[in-house]
Amino acid sequence: MARAQSSTLDIPEAGKIPRHIALIMDGNGRWARQRLLPRIAGHRRGSEAVRTLVESATRLGVEYLTLFAFSSENWRRPADEVSMLMQLFISNLENEISRLHRANIRVRIIGDLTRLGARLETLITEAHALTSDNTGLTLTVAVNYGGRWDILQAMNALLRAHPEKAAGEITESDLTPFLSMGEAPEPDLFIRTGGEQRISNFLLWQLAYTELYFTETLWPDFNAESLNEAIHSYQQRERRFGRTSEQCCAPDS
Ligand code: FPP
Repeated sequence: MARAQSSTLDIPEAGKIPRHIALIMDGNGRWARQRLLPRIAGHRRGSEAVRTLVESATRLGVEYLTLFAFSSENWRRPADEVSMLMQLFISNLENEISRLHRANIRVRIIGDLTRLGARLETLITEAHALTSDNTGLTLTVAVNYGGRWDILQAMNALLRAHPEKAAGEITESDLTPFLSMGEAPEPDLFIRTGGEQRISNFLLWQLAYTELYFTETLWPDFNAESLNEAIHSYQQRERRFGRTSEQCCAPDS
């Protein structure tokens, strides 16, 4: 594997299964509206799609799966939807954590967890403790997360840890360990369902060289075949990381 000049980590070989997939699961509300159901019914079906996705990703040998479940901007939604979403996260964690643990999955929740309420905070702490030594898929769920928040909290944490650092001295590799995803490789493939073509303040730092894939499929309809299609599209891409096509595609590069 070649190493890029920036902090971008190892470059995976083309044509392989992406090591790290990041996802924005959009379209639950529209899925529900099309069926004259309340929005929360779409989120419930969305949770089932998450279960299928985790199973498919594990089977394919994906090492890291990172899901955007609730952004810092999602607090702007109607209060009852926010409260039902929080309740859904709680019941998902309560009901799924033993199964995830048995499947050797390491569960991580990232984001500003201070606003989530005591019950969710406890469940998150327990989930981390239970699964931290697992060696299979790392499943990261971003809750009350924003990419700008992450860069700022990392910079503040770095300055607190290294008060001796002066302006102009900080490098990318100084900052990276303080980011929420500091220990994971950067995503190889980003998938957004629901037809919008935006990154929406997700992993802003880490998506710099990620291949982007957008699909009209609404999140509750995203299944194993949809994942295969996204991976197939990824496998056709030429990942150059700033190099020329000749450099990156030469047999001995
Ligand atoms: C976006 O659809 C989806 C969300 C804001 C919530 C995602 C939550 C889940 C899939 C449920 C559980 C998650 C986990 C990790 C267990 P939207 O409501 O914006 O849809 P719309 O654009 O059609 O209105």
